[in-house]
Amino acid sequence: MIRVLSGIQPSGELHIGNYFGAIQAWVNDQHSFDSFFTIVDLHAITVEHSPEELRSNTLSLAMTLLAAGLDPQICTIFVQSHVSAHAELSWLLECTATYGELSRMTQFKEKGRSDESIRAGLFTYPALMAADILLYQAERVPVGEDQRQHLELTRDIAIRFNTKYGETFKIPEATIPPLGARVMDLAHPTKKMSKSAKSRAGTIFILDSPDEIAKKVGRAVTDAENRVEYDADRKPGVTNLLEIYCAATGENPSEVASRHKMYGDLKKSATDALVALLEPLQARYIELSKDPAEVGRILKLGSQKAMDIAAPTLKMAKNNIGLVIP
Ligand code: TYM
Repeated sequence: MIRVLSGIQPSGELHIGNYFGAIQAWVNDQHSFDSFFTIVDLHAITVEHSPEELRSNTLSLAMTLLAAGLDPQICTIFVQSHVSAHAELSWLLECTATYGELSRMTQFKEKGRSDESIRAGLFTYPALMAADILLYQAERVPVGEDQRQHLELTRDIAIRFNTKYGETFKIPEATIPPLGARVMDLAHPTKKMSKSAKSRAGTIFILDSPDEIAKKVGRAVTDAENRVEYDADRKPGVTNLLEIYCAATGENPSEVASRHKMYGDLKKSATDALVALLEPLQARYIELSKDPAEVGRILKLGSQKAMDIAAPTLKMAKNNIGLVIP
């Protein structure tokens, strides 16, 4: 059976960009593939963080993923740091990737290539991400558009390792959804919606109340024309609302555009679609948060399963690169 692996950082609250770019596909993939989903806490310490917040974000993210529909009976959900093979394989891959490759990563450049005080782990971050994927021999990696370059690098590292040291890893592929792969900030529609945006106004969080959703969508930046058209270059704000609506409903953006005359109509439809999608998820979140011990149990079982799958790949990689296996 084809294996799926994907990950998400516990670096803040989940937003609809994460949901449409990745989580929605995870929920679908779990029914068709042997699926592994990991909360990548080791990636979250590559930037300034608070230890207490990291701990509570990790648990609340696990609850949000379960509330969104990941079913621990059919997929494996685990915390990255619980499986030490990730950190171990990461070192072998850091020694396979080159300085030039890591320097070219857009996310690294955006987060502060020129800043001397950034953490070294931010630079080597993509090698750890490659380890996450390659350890499980995953072939499908459902992610949003911003992770495409990291997936290309993962493939390059895997091919190089296999060529130099012998067949070790399957070569994975990114699966990127046709709609919602790059949800934009509602207040700045030319910028990606992000957990770390300075203001919350342009980000719709999964746990936002219907009132908050209505307010944020109502204030979404559009343009002065008041004509609904699906055209990302000319109308980034309107196009973003169309994509959000269609990612939630499965409809076609051009058809939806032709059905809506004024921006107010489109905003009303987008609000209703988001509330209908998120309300049941939020109710499940409240239920799950009454029993955090159960979430801990699910994560523990998940990490045991992940360890069993990761161990033989790590051993083979160590052997092939020339380490003595005890
Ligand atoms: P992270 O935590 O930033 O985001 C998790 C997932 O959400 C997607 N995403 C978006 N999709 C659409 N529109 C947006 N505005 C948006 N913002 C985020 C991301 O593309 C991602 O799929 N490096 C990864 C985490 C990671 C990983 C992995 C992913 C670590 N190891 C192994 C896949 C496989 C990250 O920082 O995602």
